[in-house]
Amino acid sequence: MDGSTLQRRRVALVGTGHRGTGMWGKELLAGWRNRVEMTALMDINPVRAEAARREIGTNAPIYTDLSQMLAEVRPETVIVTSRDDTHDEIIVRALEAGCHVITEKPMTTTAEKCRRILEAEARTGNRVDVTFNYRFAPTARRMKELLLEGAIGEVTSVDFHWYLDTQHGADYFRRWHAFEQYSGSLFVHKATHHFDLLNWYLGSEADTVYATAALRHYGRNGPFRGPRCKICPHAAECDFFLDVSADPWLTALYEAPSEFDGYVRDGCVFREEIDIPDTMAVTLTTKSGVRVSYSLNACMPIEGHHLAFNGTKGRLEIRQYERQRYEVPKDDEILLLRNFQPGEKIVVPHAAGGHFGGDDRLRTMLFVPGTEDPLGQRAGARAGALALLTGVAALKSSKEGRPVRVEELGGLP
Ligand SMILES: NC(=O)c1ccc[n+]([C@@H]2O[C@H](COP(=O)([O-])OP(=O)(O)OC[C@H]3O[C@@H](n4cnc5c(N)ncnc54)[C@H](O)[C@@H]3O)[C@@H](O)[C@H]2O)c1
Repeated sequence: MDGSTLQRRRVALVGTGHRGTGMWGKELLAGWRNRVEMTALMDINPVRAEAARREIGTNAPIYTDLSQMLAEVRPETVIVTSRDDTHDEIIVRALEAGCHVITEKPMTTTAEKCRRILEAEARTGNRVDVTFNYRFAPTARRMKELLLEGAIGEVTSVDFHWYLDTQHGADYFRRWHAFEQYSGSLFVHKATHHFDLLNWYLGSEADTVYATAALRHYGRNGPFRGPRCKICPHAAECDFFLDVSADPWLTALYEAPSEFDGYVRDGCVFREEIDIPDTMAVTLTTKSGVRVSYSLNACMPIEGHHLAFNGTKGRLEIRQYERQRYEVPKDDEILLLRNFQPGEKIVVPHAAGGHFGGDDRLRTMLFVPGTEDPLGQRAGARAGALALLTGVAALKSSKEGRPVRVEELGGLP
């Protein structure tokens, strides 16, 4: 069928920052234009929405009021890419207006908000998709296939360690992510990806979570601090100095728009009031009885992860790097180590695009009707809930110094 004759899905984008404008704006229209019609851009900052409209290359109308947009535009699907703590209100109102929702992770930031979303989805019968793009990376698919084939028997334990480098990790401490009220902490904002991967790989969910955490690098640990990099007296001596003016994308989306709402892209990573940890360790048990050791560190010389599944018949292991200052193989190498047998190296080529091609596959799954899903990669609200609630349990555990059962949070109706 010719692309122009296809029925296009009428979407509206809510939250026109980096993720919305890039992944769900510019890139979505570039690759899936014959499947998607962008009907509206909504953001509480009209200057950023205007910049986003230019970057995306669309004539879609701009709204600063969600209710007005929903009533006037009546989109089929609302794509939610706003600040994490605002997702619940937007999702619930979109569902109640008769829309389906595609939301960025984390689905939301607290157990109460999570429950509200699940109840609204059940009440309205409309669907929430949660964009867990890591499930779609080529290595993730291969690992999942190997686990399903029983390559290492029954999984008994998992070693899972995620490293955020001094560029990406620091970025979370420059912005709203650095505050629990907006992001739920990195246990929720970032680890939601990882807890979801665990749930998906294992076909299970967390039961009990014990965590410890500390702020060891950013915030009050800094040797000095300033209002923002652009006007900081310590710029020349600070390893974390970010020059927004050197990046046209960041300049367009954040510089002029910051005059409207004061949201700057180069906030100081050493602000005294930062209240989330950057160094986190978790021990969790799944409902299926798998023991998991997980950690997340946000100030590392490498960006990537180490993941190993230990089973009754062997071990499946991967070390994947997204950025590092030494040579690593061009493609990913999965190690399949069977007890009492020689090891096997399985090479998985990277695909082009974000998250080793995962972002493109996710968009195809969501926007090309009939795309098959034999590995269950498409994630709904329940998967979104289970992942974020694991993070909420970890944060609670780290504060209270005791194991927390996900059930006790009351996030699932
Ligand atoms: N899956 C991934 O790999 C990935 C990567 C980056 C970001 N994300 C997610 O995407 C979302 C956006 O992240 P970002 O980096 O673009 O953040 P951002 O701060 O750049 O953009 C957020 C936008 O939301 C707007 N906003 C805030 N409150 C709003 C409200 N109530 N209604 C409408 N708009 C509102 C802000 O003005 C801003 O323009 C987050 O939830 C984040 O977790 C996911």
